[in-house]
Amino acid sequence: MAANATGNPETREWGGGQTAFYAADTIVPFPLIERAEGIAMWDDQGRRYIDVSSGPVVSNIGHGNAHVADAMARQAKVLDYAFPRQVRNRPNIDFAERLARLAGPGFERVHLSSGGSEANESAIKFLRQYAIATGKPEKTKIVTRDPSYHGGTIANLAMNGEVMMLPFLEGFAEPSAKVPAPFTYRLPENHDAESYARHCAEVLEQTIQALGPQNVLAFVMEPVGGLSTGCIVPSADYMRRVRAICTRHGVHLVFDEVLCGMGRTGKFLAAHHWPDALPDIVTKAKGLGSGYSPLGAMLAPAEMVDELSRLTGFEFQYSYNANPISCAAGMAVLDEYERLGLTDKAASMGKDLRNGLERLKTTCPIVGDVRGMGMLYAVELVADQATKAPLPTTCKAADRARTHGPDNGLLIYSRPTSGGRYGDWFTVSPPLTITEAECDDMLQRLEATLVAFQVELTRAGVL
Ligand SMILES: Cc1ncc(COP(=O)(O)O)c(C=O)c1O
Repeated sequence: MAANATGNPETREWGGGQTAFYAADTIVPFPLIERAEGIAMWDDQGRRYIDVSSGPVVSNIGHGNAHVADAMARQAKVLDYAFPRQVRNRPNIDFAERLARLAGPGFERVHLSSGGSEANESAIKFLRQYAIATGKPEKTKIVTRDPSYHGGTIANLAMNGEVMMLPFLEGFAEPSAKVPAPFTYRLPENHDAESYARHCAEVLEQTIQALGPQNVLAFVMEPVGGLSTGCIVPSADYMRRVRAICTRHGVHLVFDEVLCGMGRTGKFLAAHHWPDALPDIVTKAKGLGSGYSPLGAMLAPAEMVDELSRLTGFEFQYSYNANPISCAAGMAVLDEYERLGLTDKAASMGKDLRNGLERLKTTCPIVGDVRGMGMLYAVELVADQATKAPLPTTCKAADRARTHGPDNGLLIYSRPTSGGRYGDWFTVSPPLTITEAECDDMLQRLEATLVAFQVELTRAGVL
């Protein structure tokens, strides 16, 4: 019996919400959110916050969308659940077709799940089963980047490029082989961004060769980085090199677009920015359900899926795969993308957002770099703009920027990556529905937040 299961049930605290599981020192500042609309959320005290990062880059169409809510309610009344191992359902068929058409040739088949971690696991399990079924059972190795984030299941944790997780994985799960992510800001000596990206691609090839190409199942990467790298955008040359290396060695290339997909970067798939370097598999989630329903997807070529279907079939599933209500939500989200032109808006309005963030460098000396594309940016915080020196890790800069946000009406997505080994940043990725006036207001509040943090750092003698 657990230690706290004794004593008087009347005085025991029951539940506690999700935050009960978080580090005690992060629980206190969390506002209790009661409602949300558009880009804003309100807490139980009536305070308004701008959703600067769309949660963790989820709420792409904004909050309180009546079209999506109505579509889900309608679907729940007609058909709430249908198990795909027993029956087909119309929302699944319609949603898969619409998604595949948007993704384009090479991504004709759609395997749905409940989120990004499941989508990435499905991709790996699919490729593993395909390898076994086509006579390549030795393909067991996965290569990912350092840093990177692919999800929270045990298999995902082993794929993530997160050095702080290594003790957790020790003797428990086998970490994937890691290759460096092509950072563009703070580079190793004697490198510029171009030469470093070339180096990163060379290390990928050397790693595949060292593992034995016949043993390597897949290289998994985020085409445009999320929180783990602070939104790094690769060069076209890097993408072409990666594609060529994977093709040359018979390694499947998987793009994790869980965060950067769904129009965030100004194209429906981030992969569409590099049409001559398309992956074999792409995964999506977050903006796919836009917060209205848990939803993830793995998109794969018809040739592979149909071949595996003839050989063994893909054997793995979850009870909530292709849930009719989730599919109806996904369909309605896509309706809103179309009606409001959100992907094009990400491209056009993203330029203003970027300019606004760049301007912060003049008023906030701790802003070192602004990276990203479309409506997906990271702001990297530094001790010194000229030398790019990071703030001391003891400052927990990413966390502190987040906790200063609510004082200025902002909810900001950040957490330290790899214990701050690569620097500190937070994400600016508001709902794609944001207006120009709302964007200006958000930028002013962001400036006030960073200035407050600067004052704190100056008082502490760090600046
Ligand atoms: C790039 C990337 N992949 C996968 C995931 C995992 O997605 P989920 O949290 O929906 O399981 C995330 C979540 O942050 C992500 O950013």
